[in-house]
Amino acid sequence: MKVDGISYRSIWPAEDGAAAEIIDQTRLPHDFVTARLETLEDAAHAIRAMLVRGAPLIGATAAYGLWLAMSRDPSDENLERAAETLLATRPTAVNLRWAVEDVRRHVAARPEGERAGAAFRRAGEICDDDAEMNESIGRHGLEVFRQAWKAKGARGTLNVLTHCNAGWLATVDWGTALAPIYMAHDAGIPVFVWVDETRPRNQGAGLTAWELGRHGVPHKVIVDNAGGLLMARGEVDLCVTGTDRTTATGDVCNKIGTYLKALAAKDTGVPFYVALPGPTIDWSLADGAAIPIEERDSREVSHVPGRTDAGEDTSVRITPPDSPVANFGFDVTPARLVTALITERGVCPASREGLAALYPEHAASAAE
Ligand code: MRU
Repeated sequence: MKVDGISYRSIWPAEDGAAAEIIDQTRLPHDFVTARLETLEDAAHAIRAMLVRGAPLIGATAAYGLWLAMSRDPSDENLERAAETLLATRPTAVNLRWAVEDVRRHVAARPEGERAGAAFRRAGEICDDDAEMNESIGRHGLEVFRQAWKAKGARGTLNVLTHCNAGWLATVDWGTALAPIYMAHDAGIPVFVWVDETRPRNQGAGLTAWELGRHGVPHKVIVDNAGGLLMARGEVDLCVTGTDRTTATGDVCNKIGTYLKALAAKDTGVPFYVALPGPTIDWSLADGAAIPIEERDSREVSHVPGRTDAGEDTSVRITPPDSPVANFGFDVTPARLVTALITERGVCPASREGLAALYPEHAASAAE
């Protein structure tokens, strides 16, 4: 996608061949700054501290992390150590495990002298595949949006609510939930987006709003609890979110607060779609309750960072210093609350049968 007329992906190999470059998402929306990942530790830190985030981008960064590890020491021991280091960074997004296992498989079968090159090429393929899958999600989602727009009598605006950031910043390019929004906007459907701020890290307020603004998509940022009111008033035509891990039965794990939006959508009859690429499906799980839910630093809840009108970056405490805080990163929306899944292979019911029909190669081995 473009920033000030220049095409960017969220991660790319540096021209000097010695690093992967990323957009430092902790600096958005105030500053657009890129950073170099030169070592395995840089890649692990970028994932842990959320310079990069979003399930597909976490996977892509881990793939480059293995390349960086292999270029310094291509031994079996280092491959194992690097994989373990990366797998320990964040627990919920299954794309991390998928990418680490994929690159490890590609690399382990080769002599040490070929490992760095093989990892680099595979990381590039993972990035290209992700961009391609998301573009395809966008095309399938566009048809869903066209139908919704037609059902509305093609009047006013098509009002979409989204949670967190499942845009191009969360993937390598296009995004998952935002891909159909960009395509519908480009196709002339007057899309309007309600953007949940997404406390505590404000990925909606800081990243989704920034992305939509750069692309010229009309939107408004709302507090996380406004969705129910808007849906009850008929001001949301459909919801669309991404996911960090979806089970073989269609239970959807996504940023904390997604479940409450799905409940409100069910009660008010608003369709609730989830957009995802194949590597986000965890075929080894049949029940969303088994997905590990990340708990992060309490400071993300007790303090709010921001920039003052005078241009100074600051962070202010909003809780009593003696009040303990809990910071759950994700929740699980049961398949029964999801209208349909929008994948790179098409749109399907959020169910074992729906997913198995689109991904028959996984059906036999999927968890019971
Ligand atoms: O904690 P984050 O910012 O990594 O969480 C991201 C999300 O929950 C996204 O909605 C999800 O990864 C889908 S990204 C296409």
